[in-house]
Amino acid sequence: MNMKEQLENIRLTAEIELGKITAEPELEAAKIKYLGKKGELTAILKGMGSLSAEERPVIGQTANTVRGFIEEKISAIEAGLKEKSNALKLEAEKLDVTIPGKKRGIGHKHPLSIVLDEVKDIFTGMGFQIATGPEVEWDYYNFEALNLPKNHPARDTQDTFYITENMLLRTQTSPVQIRYMEKNRPPIRIIAPGRTYRSDPVDATHSPLFHQIEGLVVDKGITMADLKGTLLAFAKRLYGEGTKLRLRPHHFPFTEPSCEVDVSCFKCGGEGCPMCKGEGFIEILGAGMVHPNVLKNGGIDPEEYSGFAFGVGLERLTMFRFAIDDLRLFFENDLRFLSQF
Ligand code: PHE
Repeated sequence: MNMKEQLENIRLTAEIELGKITAEPELEAAKIKYLGKKGELTAILKGMGSLSAEERPVIGQTANTVRGFIEEKISAIEAGLKEKSNALKLEAEKLDVTIPGKKRGIGHKHPLSIVLDEVKDIFTGMGFQIATGPEVEWDYYNFEALNLPKNHPARDTQDTFYITENMLLRTQTSPVQIRYMEKNRPPIRIIAPGRTYRSDPVDATHSPLFHQIEGLVVDKGITMADLKGTLLAFAKRLYGEGTKLRLRPHHFPFTEPSCEVDVSCFKCGGEGCPMCKGEGFIEILGAGMVHPNVLKNGGIDPEEYSGFAFGVGLERLTMFRFAIDDLRLFFENDLRFLSQF
């Protein structure tokens, strides 16, 4: 085979091989094979020294034509591959704006918060302020200042978790009464919602952590009638216009006289049903006229001022509001329960 035939051969095989190329790496290999320093064309060009003066320009020109042909072919393939990969990329990055978006689950208020917010609305609507106090409380505020000296038998019903001998987790929101009176002068009209603790075993109606909403009103000439009127207005707003109140005498060391307050069963309206256990009424809170000693401990003169106080259990209010029969559901964070509200 002479050089011209060799060159023609290279052109032909290149045409065939290049025609089969479908991917970038194959193209790179072909470039090296045909146009590289150790490639076939280069080898032939190196051998040109042995040619005669007539032959040299002819072969040189043929070699250049072949080279040009291969280069053109390669850049055409390169462009084709580039186009193909661009198309693939575009396809992969395609954004279908008609596909519905991913829904984010939006949370909502816990049932206890729903009812607490209602209670706050009702009382702030009647001119009450919202007060707070610490959950880790001194024995003094939780018991002593509320007329419950050390060794008072009523402490037994409110056993709690002690941090030290004089520091504990508050068993009720009533200590906020004293804290608020220490810093504020009458007229006082507050509710104080918050967490409370007792060392009760967990069951359907008890939890070592629960919530109370304390109420305190102190002014000149406050009587039991104010207590009853305020709580009736509250009960009607929360449970419906037809709601009735029932006050039963009771004892709390920090109020005198004291009562427990029942509301007519919102389910049967007072007839008696499983909800109210046949009673027609449901107990929702403890209340009474603030004991003179408690006023004194708050720095308020009981000769000049009088007041009433009450303490509501938020879990109880919420259970009756939504007909929930197990208090544990509030604290288990089960979405099957929570998403119903
Ligand atoms: N603190 C009382 C309790 O936890 C409730 C109460 C509050 C009673 C205020 C009277 C006045 O049982």
